[in-house]
Amino acid sequence: MSKAIPLYQEVAQRLEETITTGVYEPGERLPSIRDIHREFQVSINTAREAYRLLEDRGIVDPRSHSGHFVLRLPPLCDDCSMDFPDPAESIPRDASAGSLTQRVMQDCMRPGWVNLATAEPPAALLPARRLADLTAKELRRQPERAVSYELPPGPEVLRLEIAKRLFRGSVSVSPDQILITAGCLEAVFLSLMTVCSPGDAVVIESPGFFLFYQLLEKLRLQAIEIPSRPSTGVDPEDLDQILTDAERRRQRGVGPKVAAAVLIANFSNPIGSLIPIERKRRIAAVLERHEVILVEDDMYGEMAWNVERPPSLASFTDPNRTLLCASFSKSIAPGYRVGWIATGPALIGPATHSKLVTSAAVVNPTSLGIAAFLANGGHERWLRSARRHYRESVSQVRRAVLESFPQGTQMTNPAGGMVIWIVLPPQIDVTEVYEQVRREQICFAPGPMFTLSGNYRNCMRVNATKWDPTVEAAIKSIGMAACRAADSSGS
Ligand SMILES: Cc1ncc(COP(=O)(O)O)c(C=O)c1O
Repeated sequence: MSKAIPLYQEVAQRLEETITTGVYEPGERLPSIRDIHREFQVSINTAREAYRLLEDRGIVDPRSHSGHFVLRLPPLCDDCSMDFPDPAESIPRDASAGSLTQRVMQDCMRPGWVNLATAEPPAALLPARRLADLTAKELRRQPERAVSYELPPGPEVLRLEIAKRLFRGSVSVSPDQILITAGCLEAVFLSLMTVCSPGDAVVIESPGFFLFYQLLEKLRLQAIEIPSRPSTGVDPEDLDQILTDAERRRQRGVGPKVAAAVLIANFSNPIGSLIPIERKRRIAAVLERHEVILVEDDMYGEMAWNVERPPSLASFTDPNRTLLCASFSKSIAPGYRVGWIATGPALIGPATHSKLVTSAAVVNPTSLGIAAFLANGGHERWLRSARRHYRESVSQVRRAVLESFPQGTQMTNPAGGMVIWIVLPPQIDVTEVYEQVRREQICFAPGPMFTLSGNYRNCMRVNATKWDPTVEAAIKSIGMAACRAADSSGS
């Protein structure tokens, strides 16, 4: 896996960091193009391109003859009102799924309920007809292959297409280093199964994707939570501290080995954070120093709406100590269950063996159908329209939240993905809001589902893949319930 990030993106990322960290505040003038040219030792053109990118993201305002000014801070969600676990006290915990998670998972499957709890792309948006036609054609062309066992790593035609897509995330692997899985969750499951032993610990983002916690529980692994902030995701210093402390505990014989870190560097779920390039590089160095394997979930890397596809964290790490997982569930068809692991020569064999012993074969008909869809073009066009759709629906949901939620509510303003993280005023207990809207057959994902620490009691994640009158009414109901909860808590 080699890195090939255009220089101007790197410059833009570093400039963005100076804005995120408050070096430059909204309204302030940024260094001139000539300053950038001198300080970063890049060409004038590269400096111009970097500013153009920040302009596209709505972060800087170019004023003729005056230079570039900070328009707004990239994240709109204030980290301060979220109660992150203290990295100095992040100890391994058993990852048992709480009763709240189980209740929400049951609710969101109930027929007739408005489900804002899971991030499902609306079926009407997906290329269902074209995919069905291409799959049917493939099945007719090779009917016997489709009904046979296809042993892992899976069809080469598909692995070739995936290798091309990975290159866009600055990861270069050969098709031999790709294993086809039944979706991204299976890819993460197989990765952890391959590199961890029961009792080991795994670093996981907090707030973090709730199914990962349950996956750790099934594998008898412990979780160590690391804060992931809406602005810039995981902090390499926190990671270093957590891994150093864990190593000390282990040396004293009172803690498990930290075998892996599961990270979502691009548009994380649930907070939509994007780890800046410089931080990605430092995180890679910390993982290498502590000899911890990276399991990256890059499910949303291709779902950058109006910025270029950011590089995968895997493009900065040693491929032999990295398992990069993703799928086509958000970009083509979740029902087809096609995902993958990309890794180096040292891990591809063990990962393939894990797939063989857990499911014997790869699902052939849908793998062949997706390969045909990718090879016949149209995927890029569809991705463009999906990105537009998500950008639009997220902005509609944000607008509705602003209108109906209590004063003091904050929320993320992601540049990709399809979920919004909402932070209610601290005195509101989100589980109380959940119980109220449940009566109206509405469900969302309350904050405590995304941690083992019991934190985020005033937070929630809302799926924003769809915008219609039903969703609008549901957001209004949640907002009204939150206002009632705020009133009864005396605010
Ligand atoms: C971050 C993340 N990883 C994995 C998954 C599951 O992906 P798949 O359906 O491909 O198994 C999801 C689905 O919401 C997700 O958000």
